[in-house]
Amino acid sequence: MTQITVAGASGLVGSNIVKEALERGYHVHGTLRDAEDTSKTRWLMALPGAAQRLTLFSADAADSHSFDAAMAGSDAVFIACLPPIYRAADGTPARELDRARGYDEIVRPVRNGCLNVLAAAARAGIGHVMLCSSTSSTNPPVPLAIKTEATALSDAEHQMAQGKFTAAEKIVMETAAQDFCVEHQMRLCVFLPTMMLGPTVLPQHLDSDSHRFLIALVRDGKAVHETVPQGSMSVSHVADVAKLFVNAYERPDARGRYFAMYESLDWADIYAEFAKQAPQASLPAPSPRSNEPPTRFDFTRRDSLGVAMRDIPTTIAETGQWLKSDPFG
Ligand SMILES: NC(=O)c1ccc[n+]([C@@H]2O[C@H](COP(=O)([O-])OP(=O)(O)OC[C@H]3O[C@@H](n4cnc5c(N)ncnc54)[C@H](OP(=O)(O)O)[C@@H]3O)[C@@H](O)[C@H]2O)c1
Repeated sequence: MTQITVAGASGLVGSNIVKEALERGYHVHGTLRDAEDTSKTRWLMALPGAAQRLTLFSADAADSHSFDAAMAGSDAVFIACLPPIYRAADGTPARELDRARGYDEIVRPVRNGCLNVLAAAARAGIGHVMLCSSTSSTNPPVPLAIKTEATALSDAEHQMAQGKFTAAEKIVMETAAQDFCVEHQMRLCVFLPTMMLGPTVLPQHLDSDSHRFLIALVRDGKAVHETVPQGSMSVSHVADVAKLFVNAYERPDARGRYFAMYESLDWADIYAEFAKQAPQASLPAPSPRSNEPPTRFDFTRRDSLGVAMRDIPTTIAETGQWLKSDPFG
């Protein structure tokens, strides 16, 4: 069976791609920065099929050659090892940086890290690249009535002028990856998820930004927010996201950007779904509903990948029930 490489196998997204790929019978080479870290590897090695078909490697995106061993013999690379950078090296929040520091310390490391992974893949003769980006690359300066993957393109300079370096890193990374893959004749698919929920492979992911709103209610009985945020939000179930990645790899015609989330809901409606999972919890104070309708998307391309996508209420319900089952003991 075919071998694939998952860069960032210990991450929320990467570990779910590993799980999905193992379930489909692939041999998987996974990377994390320290493959000797058993607090992470033991959860990956406990996945069904892992003992026979998963090998883990240490690799750091700052060093392209550290990925060479993990790429050897693979047909595709799935890149989920470039989490957002929120602070400069000295701890300054990204939003407080000027243009030069923001680019050098927030945007450039992600761009270069992606190019380092791609260079290792190119050296290994890999022809298929599945790259995890984010909806933060889908916010053009003039809002769209309905977003499509082709039109919902952030403008990096516009974002950086507002101090949004952590958002700008994604569109800069995508553009660099696109240019690299054209030059090296590699097929590139880019995925655009947003806040992700759903069962996690590693317990460490319960502390991630994505799960904290629901966990605060279910586990601590108290909301993270003091008042319900205004505006709308989308959500993705991480298992649906992983399926989109693997389905796109398995469809040779698939290329380009793909939304990897559901229709947005107003935050008031999201909290109403959260509340069903934690009826005793104290909820944030209500705030007036936004006059703006929730962001709308055209999901034609996403749905062309053939994944039966959940929706936000189903994802929140499944995640809440899973959390209450005390999954990690
Ligand atoms: N989580 C969300 O809700 C969400 C929402 C939208 C978009 N995304 C996007 O999804 C992608 C993956 O995010 P995630 O939430 O899965 O991140 P994550 O849970 O923080 O995992 C990141 C993965 O990358 C590895 N990694 C971190 N720094 C690295 C480096 N310098 N070199 C090599 N590997 C490194 C980590 O390994 P070790 O730390 O074990 O070394 C881990 O395997 C990112 O591009 C993120 O922007 C995530």
